[in-house]
Amino acid sequence: MEKSSFMIAPSILSADFARLADEVSAVEKAGCDWIHVDVMDGHFVPNLTIGAPVVKCLKPVSTKPLDVHLMIDDPEKYVEDFAKAGADYLTIHVEATQYVGETLQTIRELGMKPGITLRPATDLQEIVPFLPSVDLVLVMTVNPGFGGQSFMQDQVAKVDELKRMREQDPGLNYLIEVDGGVSDQTAKQLRNADVLVAGSYIYKNESYEVAIANLKEAKHD
Ligand code: DX5
Ligand code: ZN
Repeated sequence: MEKSSFMIAPSILSADFARLADEVSAVEKAGCDWIHVDVMDGHFVPNLTIGAPVVKCLKPVSTKPLDVHLMIDDPEKYVEDFAKAGADYLTIHVEATQYVGETLQTIRELGMKPGITLRPATDLQEIVPFLPSVDLVLVMTVNPGFGGQSFMQDQVAKVDELKRMREQDPGLNYLIEVDGGVSDQTAKQLRNADVLVAGSYIYKNESYEVAIANLKEAKHD
């Protein structure tokens, strides 16, 4: 389960949406592992972004897994749309529905890999019952809703605890992903993570290749 370097999932939230296909190809060429897609509904978070139609457009132009992060209320209503659109990982917030277990199961039945995530203010215990059912646990290190926010250091303990739990229980097989304020500097505190999401650090960097290489190497710095 231990990876030699971080896997990197650029968040297209910070990309130039007018050139989205090119922006995805550019980070793939620069060495990323997944493409992170932030879906926001203006209810669960105070911002609106994109939905399944954009995932559908990205599918044929992307060669990497599409890692879709749903920041929407009642995600169960949209799971089928994202399956049809070609999402590979589909992550829901534990706070977003009363049907968390059922939704994770539907995600798997529809051929996607289920992920669970939580707001920084939510206790890790809230997701513990669902850990055996997921392939991915996303730790938010900013309040979900916007790119470019500051990294919340106090959330790193969740990453460490998730790794400890995985090591102690052979029934747990999730990857640990971190999202929000990730840079080459903050990544150094995230050595127990497997996948790093980064929006502004990559897309605001002059060289996507340098940014991605810096993030990967931060596991060993
Ligand atoms: C925030 C999103 C993140 C965001 C990260 O709600 O889930 O994926 O794009 O952006 P940065 O890396 O700029 O914090
Ligand atoms: Zn995200």
